[in-house]
Amino acid sequence: MPKQLRSLSGWLRPYVYLSSNSLSLVGVIFVTAASVLWVYLLPVFLNGMAGDPYTGILIFMGLPSLFLLGLIIIPLGIIVRGRRERRKGIYPASFPPLDFKNRDWRRLLLFIGVTTAVNVVIGGQLVYSGVNYMDSVTFCGETCHTVMKPEYVAYLHSPHARVACVKCHIGPGASWFVRSKLSGTYQVFATIFNTFPRPIPVPITNLRPARATCEQCHWPARFEGNRLTIIPHYASDETNTLTEDVLLMHIGGGDGQGGIHGAHVSPGVTIRYGSDPSRQKMDWVYYTDTRTGKKTLFVAPGVDPKSVDTRKGRIMDCIDCHNEPSHTFHLPGKAMDKAMANGQISPSLPFVKKEGVALLEENYSSQADAARRIPEELSAYYQSSNPSVMSQQKAAVEQAGKSLVAIFDQNVFPKMNVKWGTYPNSLSHEGCFRCHGALHNSSVTYMKIPKHCDMCHTILAQDSKNPKILDELQLSDPGGSSTK
Ligand code: HEC
Ligand code: HEC
Ligand code: HEC
Ligand code: HEC
Ligand code: HEC
Repeated sequence: MPKQLRSLSGWLRPYVYLSSNSLSLVGVIFVTAASVLWVYLLPVFLNGMAGDPYTGILIFMGLPSLFLLGLIIIPLGIIVRGRRERRKGIYPASFPPLDFKNRDWRRLLLFIGVTTAVNVVIGGQLVYSGVNYMDSVTFCGETCHTVMKPEYVAYLHSPHARVACVKCHIGPGASWFVRSKLSGTYQVFATIFNTFPRPIPVPITNLRPARATCEQCHWPARFEGNRLTIIPHYASDETNTLTEDVLLMHIGGGDGQGGIHGAHVSPGVTIRYGSDPSRQKMDWVYYTDTRTGKKTLFVAPGVDPKSVDTRKGRIMDCIDCHNEPSHTFHLPGKAMDKAMANGQISPSLPFVKKEGVALLEENYSSQADAARRIPEELSAYYQSSNPSVMSQQKAAVEQAGKSLVAIFDQNVFPKMNVKWGTYPNSLSHEGCFRCHGALHNSSVTYMKIPKHCDMCHTILAQDSKNPKILDELQLSDPGGSSTK
């Protein structure tokens, strides 16, 4: 053995002897467990796979703390044993060399070997199932159930019900994963200490640009030209008179198809805007198209074009229109129109639209409170105003009561302060008219961002009873597949 190693071994001998105590051995278990788990989690972490704050806590805080704790208690055990043996006078005067005849050395090596092996086996299983679970929608939606409940419930009823939350909220790649972990870790603390804001404020400013997430599955070049949308409305009168709006939405696409997507997200087009933090009040919009060389600055009334720095501002992307793509919350009238068109609430019940909306808009202290009072009050209403309904259509009244509770439960979350209209949907006139018709060309004041009625859609019928166009298309059933 070279001289230096021999002196190192001489120096180590007392520690090897003293480390054979239960406290230090627990420390060894901690250190090996933390190291092995960390090695397992690292690739998951680098691949950007796990999508929840708890992995962040585990990787950034849990494992390093365990490791450090191990590192602290190993020498602590050694010190305690050394002191005790010195006090009792049984501290050995010399120590056996570190070879396989040395019992303490053998035991220590064996112990480290066995704990590592055990950790490799158990840790592998744990990490595998843990990561799968934590990536799941159940985890995102239910583990922090109060916080995420509004979005989770709305999500289950959306066209994205089979797209995992992490697909939009984190997307592929490591760097956004790291960012989301850092904010996720903070969010877990906010949840534990109950300091998270209610409702969760929008817009989410650190959300990954939507084009990197949405375009995993939808990309503008693939969009269709037009889409038929039928929107039923039931009036607040006795017979709940049905009228329909029929629109041909000019979806458009990226490859020179124009239309809605062509105008905002096709290759070459960049729209930047400056607004208030809520993104509701636009100050200016700068439109550039590298294919045509067109560059136009639009400003809100009163905004001086010279004060605008067009290199700043947010680049418009999918979520400036699709801000609630997966968790859309509806207003009572619209939610009832849908339920009535689907037959969940029978339009044959007199005044059910008017009464239903009124019941939905009342104040309830909790969802349980609503679930109890809404059906009771609906029955009481018919009992007092129109008893024949209760005798002839009792089942329909009960079914309507249940459906109203379901509508309430999908849209109002008293615990999170989510009320009717807390999260407005920008895929609407209000959303489009933040810019269209509101801002004008900075050099030609009377030229506004256009707003003529057939630009975004062709109106095939408006407020129409039995629209002729639906007869021609043989689509007269309001619950038909393309109904909104
Ligand atoms: C199709 C993509 C998509 C999916 C899937 C998705 N989200 Fe979202 N989510 C978004 C976008 C985009 C926003 C940003 C809204 C904004 O900034 O105005 C958002 C916003 C949120 C917000 C902020 C409050 C709000 O309602 O706007 C929460 C909380 C949230 N999502 C939770 C979830 C949970 C939990 C899931 C899974 C159960 C999920 N999301 C699934 C795209 C998605
Ligand atoms: C992992 C794949 C995936 C991602 C990511 C994704 N979507 Fe979707 N999206 C789907 C699927 C699947 C559907 C349902 C298609 C259908 O119903 O035909 C859908 C449907 C839609 C629809 C049509 C809804 C309707 O009314 O029919 C819109 C709009 C939409 N997505 C927007 C977005 C936006 C915006 C994002 C990004 C924030 C996004 N999606 C991210 C898979 C995805
Ligand atoms: C200027 C607003 C706006 C922007 C920006 C926008 N969309 Fe849309 N999108 C719409 C409107 C409006 C519709 C039609 C909705 C309807 O039919 O009611 C639509 C429809 C869709 C549909 C359904 C298409 C179909 O054929 O049914 C998908 C998917 C979609 N958008 C995805 C995206 C994605 C992904 C992006 C970003 C690359 C994006 N949108 C950007 C306004 C927008
Ligand atoms: C942030 C501002 C902004 C918002 C929000 C916005 N747009 Fe636009 N949109 C523009 C600008 C700027 C143009 C280009 C106008 C021009 O060049 O004259 C445009 C152009 C269009 C065009 C093409 C007009 C034409 O003459 O060919 C359509 C269609 C359109 N938008 C639909 C929509 C719809 C639908 C929505 C809402 C879902 C919407 N836009 C929301 C800024 C916006
Ligand atoms: C900048 C684009 C844009 C312009 C301009 C526009 N709309 Fe719309 N319109 C929309 C969008 C987006 C929707 C929502 C479609 C949906 O809910 O799927 C809509 C929906 C509607 C609806 C159905 C509303 C409902 O809830 O039943 C009617 C009716 C309508 N528009 C009429 C008009 C009329 C009339 C004009 C002219 C004054 C007009 N629109 C101009 C984008 C536009």
